[in-house]
Amino acid sequence: MKLQTLMRAMLTASAVGLALPAFADTELKIYISSQHQPQVWRKVLDQYETKTPGTKVTIETGGNTSEAQAQYLNTIMSAKDASLDVLILDVIRPAQFATAGWTTAFTDKDMSVYLPAYAEANTVDGKVVALPAFADSMFLYYRKDLLDKYGVTPPKTWAELKAAAKKITEGEGNPDLQGLSFQGKAIEGAVCTFLLPYWSQGKTLVSNGKLDFDREAAEKSLALWKSFVDEGISKKNIAEVATDDTRKEFQAGNVVFAVNWSYAWAQSQGQESAVAGKVGVERLPAVEGGEQATCLGGWEFGVSAYSKSQEEAKKLVEYLSSKDVSKFMAINGSLLPTYADLYNDADVTKAAPWFADARQVVETAKPRPVTPRYNEVSEVIRTTVNAVLAGVTTPEDGAAQIESRLRRILR
Ligand code: GLC
Repeated sequence: MKLQTLMRAMLTASAVGLALPAFADTELKIYISSQHQPQVWRKVLDQYETKTPGTKVTIETGGNTSEAQAQYLNTIMSAKDASLDVLILDVIRPAQFATAGWTTAFTDKDMSVYLPAYAEANTVDGKVVALPAFADSMFLYYRKDLLDKYGVTPPKTWAELKAAAKKITEGEGNPDLQGLSFQGKAIEGAVCTFLLPYWSQGKTLVSNGKLDFDREAAEKSLALWKSFVDEGISKKNIAEVATDDTRKEFQAGNVVFAVNWSYAWAQSQGQESAVAGKVGVERLPAVEGGEQATCLGGWEFGVSAYSKSQEEAKKLVEYLSSKDVSKFMAINGSLLPTYADLYNDADVTKAAPWFADARQVVETAKPRPVTPRYNEVSEVIRTTVNAVLAGVTTPEDGAAQIESRLRRILR
């Protein structure tokens, strides 16, 4: 084709809005969990592309739960696959990925700008192995309109929650209205399900890398969750419920109380929500006589050791973990900020008023045990929680099984 003809063709193509062949110097691919607002991250990436001419970033998503995503990434990284440049990782995983040699370290990064828990989770053996994407912890979502209607205040204990749920569901007489939705499926979230009432009794699981298990407290935790099913407050198939199922059923208006992470807020206020404007978010209840406890969550961006564009990928991650982006994601995706002062930012609290009180919750949230064998620890806990809720194991046997299996792992 003659140059003139080519130019004419290109002009015509752009005039009618057809896509021109991509002339990007750098093409990056980023893996983002499908549950954590990829459509909002896309807007951030569009801004990045505008600011960084010559760079094109595409998103890959997959797996709707933390361990499904981890499994996928384990396969990709074990195969030394170079197709992904940037990986989003659950807060429990940067250490594992760095130890496996799957991520490359950032040099000269001042981690003191972030909330301390995330500076810590991303620093392994003195090296910064990933940068924070967003903070997270578990909260109690509730139907403000229904609590108001029945003169009920947000419960401070699980016993109060039971009483409130019974009062409201009986009063409403709607067989589709569930009192409490939580995660009973054998997913990563079920580890936190177990730990909430366990921690609330003042117990720890691992101290100094050694198992520090209280069987009685464990049994009490499992029995509490099972009692929600047995008393008809949670639905019979709670053992099949994953995090995003809770989000969906709450958003559809079929749940009074729900245990969930911050991301669920944005969608509960969205156009497709049946409960927009009717939602409250509070700290999770405590067991009777115990303390209110929650699970530390959050996600981090790491650069794949197999990426062929190390410098460009790092530049992108620096941008994605910047304060501006943290603020944008808080406002548009209700992902909790990793910068302390954003919790009181007027634009942020306008979009999510409860974020004003969330910083203290995140700062006092408890991390899941830090051990190189975390995957096995997680497996033991989540499968047992699931078996108890499915009625296959009793809380007593479940607690004994967790103890003996964890004892073998954490010798
Ligand atoms: C949320 C948390 C993450 C946790 C997961 C469990 O995404 O941010 O840390 O492991 O939920 O389902």
